[in-house]
Amino acid sequence: MLRVADLSLSYGQVPVLEGASLDIDDGQFVSLVGPSGSGKSSLLRAVMGLQKPLAGSVTTELAKRDIGILFQDDALLPWRTARENVALGLGFHGSNRRRAADHADSWLTQLGLSGLGDRYPRQLSGGQRKRVALAQVLALKPRLLLMDEPFASLDAIVRARVTQDLVDLAERERIGVLLVTHDLEEAISLSDVVYLLSQGPRARMSQRYDIPLSRPRKLIATRSDPRFAPLLERLWDDLSREVDRGAAEAA
Ligand SMILES: Nc1ncnc2c1ncn2[C@@H]1O[C@H](COP(=O)(O)OP(=O)(O)O)[C@@H](O)[C@H]1O
Ligand SMILES: [Mg+2]
Repeated sequence: MLRVADLSLSYGQVPVLEGASLDIDDGQFVSLVGPSGSGKSSLLRAVMGLQKPLAGSVTTELAKRDIGILFQDDALLPWRTARENVALGLGFHGSNRRRAADHADSWLTQLGLSGLGDRYPRQLSGGQRKRVALAQVLALKPRLLLMDEPFASLDAIVRARVTQDLVDLAERERIGVLLVTHDLEEAISLSDVVYLLSQGPRARMSQRYDIPLSRPRKLIATRSDPRFAPLLERLWDDLSREVDRGAAEAA
């Protein structure tokens, strides 16, 4: 559903990515990891069409409205209730506002927020706000979800619960996902495929890891799967090598 082919990006004269490629099949959960500054966010922005490639291409059969976006900072409007925030993008007007509110409520319920529709963002915890933001995106029925470290601000237990709900919904609705994360365990436990960017500048896609864990997936259980630890060790070693290489080149 999405193909990034031989993508090169730069900021002015400063090169960032060189010849980076990745693919997302229908309903596939793909994570992108790499050293800090390697160009993960830049790649995602290029996929969103916010950054023009120097070379290479981003191709998809999806329309703009089929693609949902979630960043680390949720973009909830503080003067709107949770329900209104979720209903915002639905484009119902006039007499259809009742329908939009019902639709928003059903998504709030699916994300474990039933009864909280009348609250304003400031009256919600960080985890609850993240769930509202997720409900807002999912209510628009995306076929592909692009996320840049969306859970970085959450503490471990909340993060584990929100990501489990994300996986459940992505599996149920067959939503493709491209997730940028610096958490290797999260990348493995959530994904079908993990890509590793090399140390920049001129970062390349240095590895692709197929994650053979079955679905539907219970994230806690993935950690005790005998295939989990060797995968994590390999990914950790490969990433460490990239970071060391960057430090050596900077010295
Ligand atoms: N708007 C910008 N202008 C100039 N350089 C940028 C800009 N955004 C990012 N960079 C640089 O591009 C490189 C990749 O950044 P980024 O994509 O944010 O990496 P990552 O998300 O992997 O940490 C970094 O060296 C960063 O300093
Ligand atoms: Mg980034």
